[in-house]
Amino acid sequence: MKSINEFFKAKEEKKKITVISTYDYWSAKLCEEAGIDAILVGDSLSMVVQGNDSTLPVSLDEMIYHTKAVRKGAPNTFIIVDMPFLTYHTTIEETVKNAGRILKETGANAVKLEGGEQIAKAVEKLTSLGIPVMGHLGLTPQFVNILGGYKVQGKTQDSREKIKKDAKILQEAGCFSIVLEAVPADLAKEITESLKIPTIGIGAGKFTDGQVLVFHDLIGIFPKTPKFVKRYLEAGNLIKQALSQFKDEVLKGGFPSKEHEY
Ligand code: KIV
Ligand code: NA
Repeated sequence: MKSINEFFKAKEEKKKITVISTYDYWSAKLCEEAGIDAILVGDSLSMVVQGNDSTLPVSLDEMIYHTKAVRKGAPNTFIIVDMPFLTYHTTIEETVKNAGRILKETGANAVKLEGGEQIAKAVEKLTSLGIPVMGHLGLTPQFVNILGGYKVQGKTQDSREKIKKDAKILQEAGCFSIVLEAVPADLAKEITESLKIPTIGIGAGKFTDGQVLVFHDLIGIFPKTPKFVKRYLEAGNLIKQALSQFKDEVLKGGFPSKEHEY
């Protein structure tokens, strides 16, 4: 995809949207070659690449650094970047400056913000200035210390109503799309049907307008992944095998052989 118009068109034509969250040149290149519709440079980078136990520590500079590499790998793909924890909450000026840096310095196309009503003003301002915003509701990992862990959201009637209301508010504020994370499939369906903008689900069932997965989860890099992930590959095991084979061959003299010599 090239623009937010293609997101709207996909929803109209009931064509599912595929998004991958990834953080570097080579994986972005593979995504583009595979025809993935959009790449999200997620703040999951904090956990997946930096080894932190939440998304909170990653900085704006680090997000920008990774997005530059992603853009080089996927020059023709729509790129969305997560604004890190507390970079869009203090003042509107600060929010505009930070979102502006992302688009100006990386060539990304849009930003993603977590939350509903409390970020509506920020969404309005950013979209009015030409910065497309993707929303993110349900399990919002930047709220882990309030939520008390990474748990399914929207299980109680109150929380269902709140998520539905927030989705409407984000649409009104100007979001071009909303990620729904770890919510019951029937709630995601209801929200998807009630909105004009497309929903992108992760752990939200099959009725959303699109699906997003983290690259490393999809290819099975880590031994454990959440219930909602499908591991299309066990790359972690394959890579480990290759590494031990390398070590073995070096120790036993099998590598390098004649064909690798100059
Ligand atoms: O950070 C991330 O990768 C995300 C997606 C999983 C939606 O926010
Ligand atoms: Na994220």
